[in-house]
Amino acid sequence: MKIMIINGPNLNLLGKREPDVYGDSSFEDYLHKLQSQFPDVQIDYFQSNVEGEIIDKLQEVGFSYDGIILNAAAYTHTSVGIGDAVKAIETPVIEVHISNTMQREEFRHISYISPVAKGVILGFGLKSYELAVRSLLADR
Ligand code: DQA
Repeated sequence: MKIMIINGPNLNLLGKREPDVYGDSSFEDYLHKLQSQFPDVQIDYFQSNVEGEIIDKLQEVGFSYDGIILNAAAYTHTSVGIGDAVKAIETPVIEVHISNTMQREEFRHISYISPVAKGVILGFGLKSYELAVRSLLADR
């Protein structure tokens, strides 16, 4: 089974960025733990601060991978293009957020991904990614 994790803008700063909201672990450190939890699953990772690069990656893996875990970060709330890309591909996409965006500012309550995602997991810290992997495994 092949899963691609795609992280959007500013998530390269995890561990340094607003640790009260996003925790103090870098994503790379968390990813190693996640990969060791699921030794039979190939978990690949891509991060970009550029909207078009996220769309390119969705198109690249969206017809061959078994699942995509997408945290489009701020683009979640603005990007028609990423929403359209999720709709265009065949691979199921799980939308994840580290924070519970519904408890935060109103502009974070809008998602262009949720209507086209298979499901949404938010508010469990970095564990949201583990829950997303489990949801893809449970659905096999
Ligand atoms: C986030 C929530 C977004 O609103 C924010 O712009 C992010 C991170 C999260 O994982 O909680 O950058 O997607």
